[in-house]
Amino acid sequence: MVSREAFYRNVVHSLRNGVLAIWHDGSIAEINDAACRILGLHADPGHIGRAFDEVLGKNHELSDVLSLAFTDAELPNRAELRLRTSGKVIGYTLSPIAEPDGTVSGAVLLFKDLTRIEQLEERERLRDRLAALGEMAAAIAHEVKNPLASIQVMAGLLKRQLPHSPDANELLSDIINEAKMANRIVVQVLEFVRPISLQVEPVSVTAVLDEAVAAFRSRPGNGHMTIVTNCAADLPDLHADPLQLRQLFNNLLTNAMEAQPGKGHIWITVHYTAVEESPEPTEPPDYAGYVTVEVADDGPGIRADVIDQLFNPFFTTKPSGSGLGLAIVRKIVNAHDGRIDVKSRAGGGASFGVRLPVPHQVVDTMTAGDDSAGGGSHV
Ligand SMILES: Nc1ncnc2c1ncn2[C@@H]1O[C@H](COP(=O)(O)OP(=O)(O)O)[C@@H](O)[C@H]1O
Ligand SMILES: [Mg+2]
Repeated sequence: MVSREAFYRNVVHSLRNGVLAIWHDGSIAEINDAACRILGLHADPGHIGRAFDEVLGKNHELSDVLSLAFTDAELPNRAELRLRTSGKVIGYTLSPIAEPDGTVSGAVLLFKDLTRIEQLEERERLRDRLAALGEMAAAIAHEVKNPLASIQVMAGLLKRQLPHSPDANELLSDIINEAKMANRIVVQVLEFVRPISLQVEPVSVTAVLDEAVAAFRSRPGNGHMTIVTNCAADLPDLHADPLQLRQLFNNLLTNAMEAQPGKGHIWITVHYTAVEESPEPTEPPDYAGYVTVEVADDGPGIRADVIDQLFNPFFTTKPSGSGLGLAIVRKIVNAHDGRIDVKSRAGGGASFGVRLPVPHQVVDTMTAGDDSAGGGSHV
């Protein structure tokens, strides 16, 4: 039989929510493993007895919350905040710890990592927005497609009828090019608003990348790009829609090329991270791990003030851009329950990292003897 005190201690340490209790003087009375995990601290018995702001670090958001404990302020209940350093969103409640006679001897902060819930809600909001926007955009795009095609055809016919009039020919070529560009935008709008229904199958990410790169290279004007691919060996297959992935990689490659027209390099690296090694151990282990594909270029990079808007539909800094390339990328990544992040390096160059989940059964079959996955590095 365990003692009552040991039992209560076990309760606190087994909770999946973070618990951080302090004495009236600000020293830590209890901090459980979940709290350490969420806050990125080592689970160390040495935390007990130390001042909370010393353990959490100066200017920590939770230090501000804990300092409210013994003031007259109303204590936060079911509040939320974002941790600056890790970007995690946590939901928390701060309660006073009262003795039977009513004196307050300490305070306890209960908290939970809401990052995952926050992400799902954000996706939900995005889906709702797209559904409304999509119906209208699809209707308009559909109506515009036919007249655009007619303009192209008729301008082409007229061009043939005026072989000896270079001025008229030039104008007609301009009309055709403009109509083509408008058509490209319409096609992208339709692609963007169409709800994704994934045709999921086991997919080798290396094979899909090779196809996407080959298709990209074969398009006029892309031959000059130097594309360096570096794939880790023994990558597990994804459960994914290969056509959607090709589209995703194509959009990233196109942007990398457009960032450095007429020259430049694109580096593609692929690696696998098992969930145990993931930097975010609080994430539920729905998957065995993640394959991360990084597409980097040595263009001018991305201005810090626009980085938050990149994935918004219709955000573009290009004179004839549609602003849908990255919105489509995000839609595809979300549909695969993946993640995308973007880095812009100080010395120029942008890098997009796409993280796609690998289900448990794929990795289980691999470790059971199949080591046929390709790898290596090629230019
Ligand atoms: N590799 C990159 N380097 C620099 N800027 C980029 C890169 N990729 C995307 N961007 C920025 O993000 C914007 C949105 O991209 P996207 O959604 O593909 O639309 P579009 O390419 O039509 O402008 C671009 O206009 C550009 O400003
Ligand atoms: Mg683009």
